[in-house]
Amino acid sequence: MIENSGKYILVLNGPNLNMLGTREPEIYGSKTLEDIKDRVTSHGKKLGYLIDFRQSNSEGELVDWIQQECGKMSAIIINAGAYTHTSVALLDALQTVKIPIIEVHLSNIFKREKFRHHSYISPVAYGVICGFGENSYILALEAAHDILNV
Ligand code: DQA
Repeated sequence: MIENSGKYILVLNGPNLNMLGTREPEIYGSKTLEDIKDRVTSHGKKLGYLIDFRQSNSEGELVDWIQQECGKMSAIIINAGAYTHTSVALLDALQTVKIPIIEVHLSNIFKREKFRHHSYISPVAYGVICGFGENSYILALEAAHDILNV
């Protein structure tokens, strides 16, 4: 196991992701957000990162966290939930961030309703990972690690 370097990765989760486990399990799977947090935290540790894993139903709180925390972080992994498709405020906040941003979704948003095909986050993201369930977060972590180690 790699020693923890003290590098932080912020993992942000938007609205309704606190309901994972019971929320449309046929789309989002049966794991809770706490389960995903545990997996991401332990995988992050193996790669040498401290994971700051947060969820909010409030757009303003997500913006506050991006403003307050991005200076301390090496990368941001964000599943903005429905705000992905609506939030210019999140786009504006992320636009000022100088660290890699990786957009994730549990579901394949391009296989779903048309309104989910557009993301306000993607233009400022280094890359987008969607459709792999909870593994989307692990793949994002691996991608962040690769980007940070070139
Ligand atoms: C989601 C996809 C969004 O369209 C939806 O609003 C969510 C979850 C996903 O992880 O698949 O809340 O971001």
